[in-house]
Amino acid sequence: MAPTAKIAVVGAGLMGHGIAQVFALAGHTVTITDSVKASLDNAKTRILANLKDLGDDQSAVERVTPVPDLAEAVRGADYVVEAVLEDLPLKQKLFAEIEQHVRPDTILASNTSVIPITSIMQALQRRERALGTHWWNPPYLVPLVEVIETQWTSPQAVDFTMKLHAAAGKKPAHVKKDVPGFIGNRLQHALWREAISLVENGICDAETVDTVIKAAFGRRLAVLGPLENADMVGTDLTLAIHKTVLPAIDSRPGPSPYLEKLVAAGKLGFKSGEGFRTWTPEQQGALRLKVLRHLKAARAQDD
Ligand SMILES: NC(=O)c1ccc[n+]([C@@H]2O[C@H](COP(=O)([O-])OP(=O)(O)OC[C@H]3O[C@@H](n4cnc5c(N)ncnc54)[C@H](O)[C@@H]3O)[C@@H](O)[C@H]2O)c1
Repeated sequence: MAPTAKIAVVGAGLMGHGIAQVFALAGHTVTITDSVKASLDNAKTRILANLKDLGDDQSAVERVTPVPDLAEAVRGADYVVEAVLEDLPLKQKLFAEIEQHVRPDTILASNTSVIPITSIMQALQRRERALGTHWWNPPYLVPLVEVIETQWTSPQAVDFTMKLHAAAGKKPAHVKKDVPGFIGNRLQHALWREAISLVENGICDAETVDTVIKAAFGRRLAVLGPLENADMVGTDLTLAIHKTVLPAIDSRPGPSPYLEKLVAAGKLGFKSGEGFRTWTPEQQGALRLKVLRHLKAARAQDD
């Protein structure tokens, strides 16, 4: 991999501008494009504000060039990452078009949250250069990027992408099969399913579920993964716990009826002021700020 690459980011929204920022800060030349003029016009302002806020090198923004035309934005790129709306036909159409304007060896990545990479990339002429890169929000604060290969992805494309992200200060994780939820969201939502089930079954209220996680194993999670933890306490003890606890844990294959009822009643969380709990605008703002401060402090510790 060249020490500096030509990167094109398609989609300048929440994720796209942040991804462009990370690559620019790593010294790469970045073009960014968006079909909505206002999004594209705001991209560099947003990046500069983030760089300032984080105390990062503000001159990095000069390596980002907004380009309204898709073909022009991706031409000559070594690597293209797509972060447009979560819409399969849109992503398929975009990659078909992108493929017309890039070199045969340009790597193509989608930042989809949940759409199978296989579905997005199946109609490409060169499927071996296509993969998924699942970033987490905000891209400049959460280290993980899941690198998802399909049955067609070449080892070279995976290797290039893993190295590109590691060199940009991210923690790439290789997902060897294109499974729904990749790794992170499978784990996250296994926990959410049980969290909802505890409330649904009257074992505790929503606030208590969150308190138990935040005040107990949540404290350790950033430094002690579950399988490290299982080894630490012993696989024999883990087996004994699983024999008792797993039969009691929610294993329904679909979403919880409790969650479905909340949604049907318009209890949508922050956006309606009530979900599992009620939220004033002040409480919402305070929680968002708390998360941001926590992520910034964690990043400062990493540095
Ligand atoms: N928001 C998250 O937490 C998060 C996390 C991981 C992955 N993702 C995924 O990243 C992708 C982008 O999400 P987001 O939160 O940044 O959304 P967003 O709505 O903030 O941004 C999407 C951008 O795509 C642009 N766009 C739409 N059609 C386009 C087109 N034809 N060509 C170019 N640009 C176009 C929109 O104008 C918008 O600026 C989605 O696939 C999403 O699922 C989001």
